[in-house]
Amino acid sequence: MTESDLMDKVVALCKRRGFIFQSSEIYGGLNGAWDYGPLGAELKRNVKAAWWQSVVHHRDDVVGLDAAILMHPKTWEASGHTANFVDIMVECKKCNKRPRQDQLNNGKCPQCGGTDFSAPKAFNLMLKTNIGAMEDSSSITYLRPETAQGIFVNFANIVDATHRKLPFGVAQIGKSFRNEITPGNFTFRTREFEQMEIEYFCRPVEADQWYKDWIQARHQWYLQLGINQDRLRLREHGKDELAHYAAGCTDVEFLFPFGWSELEGIANRGDYDLKQHAQLSGKDLQYQDPVTQEKFYPHVVEPSGGCDRATLAFLVNAYHEEIVKDSTRVVMKFHPKLAPVKVAVLPLLKKNEGIVALAKKIKSGLQKDLVCVYDDTAAIGKLYRRQDEVGTMFCVTVDVQSLEDNQVTVRHRDTMWQERVGVERLREYLVNNLQ
Ligand code: GAP
Repeated sequence: MTESDLMDKVVALCKRRGFIFQSSEIYGGLNGAWDYGPLGAELKRNVKAAWWQSVVHHRDDVVGLDAAILMHPKTWEASGHTANFVDIMVECKKCNKRPRQDQLNNGKCPQCGGTDFSAPKAFNLMLKTNIGAMEDSSSITYLRPETAQGIFVNFANIVDATHRKLPFGVAQIGKSFRNEITPGNFTFRTREFEQMEIEYFCRPVEADQWYKDWIQARHQWYLQLGINQDRLRLREHGKDELAHYAAGCTDVEFLFPFGWSELEGIANRGDYDLKQHAQLSGKDLQYQDPVTQEKFYPHVVEPSGGCDRATLAFLVNAYHEEIVKDSTRVVMKFHPKLAPVKVAVLPLLKKNEGIVALAKKIKSGLQKDLVCVYDDTAAIGKLYRRQDEVGTMFCVTVDVQSLEDNQVTVRHRDTMWQERVGVERLREYLVNNLQ
């Protein structure tokens, strides 16, 4: 299977099995927006839960936040987005397409090969909107292009409310919007997406060490959730790629079928953001050392990842084809924490009332704490393949024998190994095998 076949297969599976659909498909679709179907919604929730657990619940030094998407427009002046969050665009005079200037192929239009372009124009990527009944300049604001600023503007609130001492971080998951000129590569570059961001505040002298620690922590997170290490690498930005205030930035990159691309950036941002907000708001956003009473602006290390990109990487990474008994088995080998469905309960004979009743009873017991499905719409071989294709960890089959010995067959996804397990210890068995 070539890498381009792999991408086509993942995209087709996502649509066929209900992971990801084109937004507004019945109207011809909306470019740069995607909808997560029943299985995709579960998968994405699991990605976010694994991130939150790792960076908030499993640490002592990070708290959570859920800030509004709409923010005061001054926020974006302070952050620099109003002036600098631009792509330079040109219009091809031959085909009228508007590629980004940095995406021309040796000075030629990527669409038609034309070489005659309009003068370059700066195009701000923020999505503008109006709030309130008046559509004049006083009502303009933006859908946030990053979640980070919701954290900076709440810095003083969080210090006051939690009495946190440096170093500490604030984590947030939420939607961001960018009017990307060229969305593409499925859910990789979209106009509406979800970010998972941390702003980690520390003393200036400790920033370099925290920057290194966060690079390692974030790299490990992807590996621990099963990303193949041959498809994951760290790439440090060159000096020419860095914002003027940043001391360093390292990307976690994944080898997508379309090449190595950024999943997450970890930036050592200095004190730029807090200082900017202090200046524009007139509020004192310095931190006061509780012992020495010294006041200063903390430095910030920012691990900033995309939930949709991580989810796409987990989908690509999970896709496997194996030849079993002369036919191809497609199996999504998700990490147990991420698998959208943990257990499928399958009655071997759907017309046998005893089997159906036992299977339904088992499902209703398990679904209190495991995501379960029940399926009796095909022969058992086909049902197994269906579950493999969406990455279900276990199939539990109820048969005639089960009515006599109160045991069921448990089939493991990756090995297809089967074992008889007593119904009374089934839950414990499944939970133990999900570790
Ligand atoms: N606060 C820093 C920040 O927003 P960024 O590199 O622009 O940095 C962080 O974005 C992450 O957000 C990226 O690593 C990527 O995973 C995700 N992201 C950014 N733009 C995206 C887009 N158009 N579509 C999907 N994900 C995107």
